[in-house]
Amino acid sequence: YLMDLEGFVSLCKRRGFVFPSGEIYGGYSGFFDYGPLGAELKNNLKKMWWRRMVHGRDDVIGLDSAIVTTPSVHQASGHVDNFSDPMVDCKESKQRFRADQLMWAKVELEDEGDVGYVSMVEDGNVEAALNKAAKKLAEGKKMKPLIIKDMTEASEEEVALIPSPATKKPGSLTGARAFNLMFETTVGPYSDAGSKSYLRPETAQGIFVNYKQVSYVMRQKVPFGIAQIGKAFRNEITPRQFLFRSREFEQMEIEYFIDPDADFRAVQEEWIEEMWNFLKAVGLKECLMDREVHEGDKLAHYARACTDIIFRYPFGTQELLGVAARGEYDLQQHAQASGQSMEYQVPGQKRKFVPHVIEPSLGIDRLFLALLCSAYDEDVVGDEKRSLLRFHPCVAPITCAVFPLMKKPPALVEKAQALAKQLRQRGWNVLYDQAGTIGKRYRRMDEVGTPFCCTVDFDTLEDDTVTVRRRDDPLEVSRMPIDAVARFLDDECQL
Ligand code: GAP
Repeated sequence: YLMDLEGFVSLCKRRGFVFPSGEIYGGYSGFFDYGPLGAELKNNLKKMWWRRMVHGRDDVIGLDSAIVTTPSVHQASGHVDNFSDPMVDCKESKQRFRADQLMWAKVELEDEGDVGYVSMVEDGNVEAALNKAAKKLAEGKKMKPLIIKDMTEASEEEVALIPSPATKKPGSLTGARAFNLMFETTVGPYSDAGSKSYLRPETAQGIFVNYKQVSYVMRQKVPFGIAQIGKAFRNEITPRQFLFRSREFEQMEIEYFIDPDADFRAVQEEWIEEMWNFLKAVGLKECLMDREVHEGDKLAHYARACTDIIFRYPFGTQELLGVAARGEYDLQQHAQASGQSMEYQVPGQKRKFVPHVIEPSLGIDRLFLALLCSAYDEDVVGDEKRSLLRFHPCVAPITCAVFPLMKKPPALVEKAQALAKQLRQRGWNVLYDQAGTIGKRYRRMDEVGTPFCCTVDFDTLEDDTVTVRRRDDPLEVSRMPIDAVARFLDDECQL
């Protein structure tokens, strides 16, 4: 990477992609506001996903369910009892840490033959923690790590010896305890036990509770999927790494219902490939992507198998999306709790079953961050250095800029404005700019990832052609008739 995460945070702010939420009051940890260009990019990602996963397939249909629903839904799904992360408190500083991110090491002080303990916050990355520990603890002394674990794996005696990263004092930490991540809210005019509900922590449950209605109304036959895009909320103990782990985020999820006798691993594999291809198509660099299979206690409470697509972010390789096999867990839970049958009647047969579910679940904010990291580049055009974002035309916040070569004569401005209007009417997000030299206007567009710039010049007044300059091939400027620009954009913006 040409920049670290801090560089991307500041670029996002400077160029109007993402701002800390409520920044005039100092921001609010774990919440972000998408600026004008960020909103465009995010909307394009959602549009492309919907186009491909819903409109592009005859076995997936869409849904848009409520963010707040009856608490019975999240009681039945197991979120009220089980959706928690292990948390550790620092008794003195009152800081809280996610226990599985708070790594500690028992080290041998080589010079003194003694042992000591260190701790550090690290996203479960043992190797990084080990390096940090060795560096940080050494402070002139040579140290050998004897064991390194996270706080979920510390006995009471060990907890008493491990120093808090906040105070550096041993004995200031509590042991790990479960902290439920759901945001609570109250519904209605009275705030009592009966009015408590939750902001959904995943969009999935809205799909499960509507599955039967949707399958009837839309006459869907298993296998089929229901897709949803929407906000989800988690009271993360330590929101970290910018958009990667926030408290309010958006998910694009599909619950794909299959016959319990079907080979669920084969269907899961198909969805992993479908997701991989989508990520590639919107412009994620394949060399930064990989897969990770979850096993054992890394699996969520509802999953029998899960494979993540992971991405090499500037701060390390982390989960971008997951494709989980949820079995019949959710539908059975809702059948039991609601007393309603969740069985699917096979058409023309006596056979009935509760379908099993494969769930591809992608966080838009994580994709947004991955895409920015993937797209950022620097190069030299002529003898000028430029920094640019190489967004795929189908997701770029501004698809095309339109410039008059100069502000005068008025005919240049009129033609350019007419072209901008025509392209806008065709649905493209177009930026009209007449300020500064053409070179400066190109640079501004490169910086925000605009793939095409059209310039109306003196030849246009003669022959109705314009120049088209490509961000990724800036020295090869071509000419085309004004009327051909819209078709050109249609062709270039195919996913
Ligand atoms: N319905 C399944 C589910 O919610 P998950 O692995 O907890 O599974 C799915 O979340 C995806 O949602 C993740 O792969 C990630 O892209 C996104 N996500 C989860 N927590 C997030 C957070 N705190 N901030 C941003 N995105 C998050």
